[in-house]
Amino acid sequence: MLNIGVLISGGGTNLQALIDAQKTGIITSGRITLVLSNRKDAYGLVRATQNGIKTQVIQRKVCADNETFDRQLLEVLRAHQIQIVVLAGFLSILSDAVVKEYPNRMINIHPSLIPSFCGKGFYGLRVHEAVLQKGVKITGATVHYVSDIPDGGDIIMQKAVDVLEGDTPETLQRRVMEEAEWKILPEAVELVCRTWKEKGLDCHE
Ligand code: GAR
Repeated sequence: MLNIGVLISGGGTNLQALIDAQKTGIITSGRITLVLSNRKDAYGLVRATQNGIKTQVIQRKVCADNETFDRQLLEVLRAHQIQIVVLAGFLSILSDAVVKEYPNRMINIHPSLIPSFCGKGFYGLRVHEAVLQKGVKITGATVHYVSDIPDGGDIIMQKAVDVLEGDTPETLQRRVMEEAEWKILPEAVELVCRTWKEKGLDCHE
């Protein structure tokens, strides 16, 4: 079993999908042992606590500078012996120093078909607003490795979702979550954990 750390900023429905996937046996090669949020009011923290998962909050705004935030985040991940990091709606860009610590062991879910509607400024509802504004007929979600380029790392999984007549950013966001994000994120987490387990990265059991 690998130790998975999930980083969140908000509601945590993707975190919930991961917790459910552990319960139903979709994720068997790793266990979520820490949920870390950059916002103290993130509802995902409640979901974690309800499921007996340790939580930690590190707020960028109360850190003296970005380096301090990154250092604290790395210290927490190391202290919990986190081996796989999952950005599940973590809406803060991490520095190279953090990303380098987890080469091919840090993954992110993005609510569009990368390389469309991604990169700096594209997060959360803004992605779906841009999709509707452009008038594309198909969107979706992507799970990818995190690299030093925002949303630019190698793609692990994608799933397409139809844009429907009369969609609002909210209805589209919900459909992308239900039909794509909550399915491919757990599958990708299991795939990455299993791959690393087979390579011998397993100090937990
Ligand atoms: C999700 O749609 C996720 O794909 C998106 O934020 C939402 C978080 O929802 N992430 C990004 O936009 C990253 N660029 P959740 O907190 O309910 O999982």
